Amino acid sequence: MKAAYRHVPVLLGEVLDLLDPRGGEVYVDGTLGGAGHATAIAERLGPEGLVVGIDRDPTALEAAASALEAAAPEVPRVLCQGSFAELDEILVGRALPGADLFLFDLGVSSPQLDVADRGFSYHREAPLDMRMDPGERTLTAAEVVNTYNEADLARILGAYGGERHARRIAAAIVAARAKRAIGTTTELARIVADAYPARERGGRHPARKTFQALRIEVNGELDALSKGLEAAVRWLLPGGRIAVISYHSLEDRIVKRLFGELSKGCICPPELPVCVCGHVPVVDVLTSRPVTPAPEEVEANPRARSAKLRVARKREPGGASPRHPVPPGPSGSAE
Ligand SMILES: C[S@@+](CC[C@H](N)C(=O)[O-])C[C@H]1O[C@@H](n2cnc3c(N)ncnc32)[C@H](O)[C@@H]1O
Repeated sequence: MKAAYRHVPVLLGEVLDLLDPRGGEVYVDGTLGGAGHATAIAERLGPEGLVVGIDRDPTALEAAASALEAAAPEVPRVLCQGSFAELDEILVGRALPGADLFLFDLGVSSPQLDVADRGFSYHREAPLDMRMDPGERTLTAAEVVNTYNEADLARILGAYGGERHARRIAAAIVAARAKRAIGTTTELARIVADAYPARERGGRHPARKTFQALRIEVNGELDALSKGLEAAVRWLLPGGRIAVISYHSLEDRIVKRLFGELSKGCICPPELPVCVCGHVPVVDVLTSRPVTPAPEEVEANPRARSAKLRVARKREPGGASPRHPVPPGPSGSAE
């Protein structure tokens, strides 16, 4: 029997407040998952609206199709399997003039973590896979740990996992695989735990950061994010809103930097008497600080713990006022 797809949407109320979906709008969900956010948004779009849902994972798309049909059968929808890094190809193929709303709720879904054979979890014995699109002949976590050289492994663990003991762990992986290829999640988790200094083995699982780093490498997550966001801002119609929920600082930094750059006017050095750069702001950032979940949400759904939401709105060409006023929402001083 097929397991039910259960994923609780993170920061749902805040996303609805800030994205402010309206009847007849075109909504592109770049990380559809089980359509937790998408169903709530679809209910506000009505039959004149359109949901374009994208996910790399065919299991998610299947679950999302049923959820959307149950919650908002009257709202037209197009679901596409693919990466949001290929947003241009996906949207051009749909002959859309543009989109009013974009959401990227990054990372993995609860079912991806919970289904053991996907290999995302260090708690569950499984082949080291970690691909979000498991059908494709693409890089797996097993290939990374068994073929990357020690320096590359250390670089990935440090850069994508923020792992302080990256070099020790990389050396331990290389020593272990010299005896026998590393094949499973629990085997790798044990190698990492043994490489950790004994005094630091108490708190969260020592393999947590290593697994995050491998997942980012296997799925090319950071490159995809930069490409997808840049394309999404191009596709946004004037007055359109884009929301991004990230779960670690590398992702949040990319979102913050891009929104920051796109919201800037002239970037000429101050000593120049006139502007020569011609730079004009393309978006207004609606969340000067990232929005984070309330303690009650984290208690009810611990996977929301590290979530950060940033939202921006596309300006009218030439800088005229946007179609919608700034929705009231949590914001504060710049961060
Ligand atoms: C946190 S879940 C989204 C959950 C969804 N918002 C909901 O409420 O059900 C993230 C989803 O994004 C998908 N994903 C991650 N990176 C992707 C990419 N580059 N392109 C398309 N989908 C991606 C994953 O497969 C996963 O289903």
